[in-house]
Amino acid sequence: MALKGKVALITGAASGIGAATARRLAADGAKVVINDIREDGLKETASSLPAGSVAAAVGDVTSVKDVERMVKTALEFGGRLDILVNSAGIDPPERETDINLALELWHKILEVNLTGPFLTMRLAIPRMIQGGGGSVINISSLSGIRYIASRAAYTASKAGLIALTQEAAVEHGPMKVRCNVICPGPVRTPLFEKNTRPLAEAMGKDPEWVFEKFTSFSPLRRIGEPEEIAAICSFLAGDDSSLLTGAVLVADGGTSLLDANGLAISSYLRDRRGQV
Ligand SMILES: NC(=O)c1ccc[n+]([C@@H]2O[C@H](COP(=O)([O-])OP(=O)(O)OC[C@H]3O[C@@H](n4cnc5c(N)ncnc54)[C@H](O)[C@@H]3O)[C@@H](O)[C@H]2O)c1
Repeated sequence: MALKGKVALITGAASGIGAATARRLAADGAKVVINDIREDGLKETASSLPAGSVAAAVGDVTSVKDVERMVKTALEFGGRLDILVNSAGIDPPERETDINLALELWHKILEVNLTGPFLTMRLAIPRMIQGGGGSVINISSLSGIRYIASRAAYTASKAGLIALTQEAAVEHGPMKVRCNVICPGPVRTPLFEKNTRPLAEAMGKDPEWVFEKFTSFSPLRRIGEPEEIAAICSFLAGDDSSLLTGAVLVADGGTSLLDANGLAISSYLRDRRGQV
């Protein structure tokens, strides 16, 4: 019960990492206010949590009015606000060839993935300061620090989120608000499954097969689970991480340690061995 007495606002909590984080923080004793744009999914997450530990605030993280309502819900429900987890995000395919549609998509992705956390932080951090401090946890991505094919806006939004987190860490550190960012590699969630499904179908396989192939060079040789990211959120939310701020925690099974040149030569050698 490391988070007993604390109140958390978690965005994107109808699904995947956000839902797992809501369950974990509630299990650790926090009161959680869960947000998502999808009311049905939010209800499902709420029903998996102990009564009395959860309040829901349906809304869009890109709307000032909606974010104001989320913060108000947290204050009314828990009397304070200590923890903010920004997990709401989108990652649609970015292969649009028409420039106007491509620009529209660019704005949409930047708006949800970067403007959303900017807004929630702008409105939540003053409340944390009033309560004596707090912890902001932003969910960026491995793509914020490493190349990912055909994902210009997603990559830019996630790199921007790292910069935004570190700027806030410096600005609000003196007021005891810590701001840290997690960069997950592939994690088994509806978002990742949706992105891998077209490839799986084209190959006549199921998404599990793609997950396995996708992570076959990774040192841990497996995809991450949402509960593993939730566990890092729990650590960052609590006092055990009291000296961490502005930290970028890469949770990718070690994939980012790999050297592309080394991989190229080893796969070339592997192919040659296969030919012999
Ligand atoms: N799954 C992965 O492999 C992976 C890897 C790296 C980073 N991430 C990041 O983790 C975060 C969570 O992703 P996930 O995999 O759990 O995805 P998910 O699709 O399962 O969950 C994201 C949730 O955000 C909600 N959402 C979208 N737009 C919103 C808005 N405008 N306002 C409020 N809610 C909104 C969706 O309805 C959804 O429930 C995202 O920011 C994503 O970019 C995911």
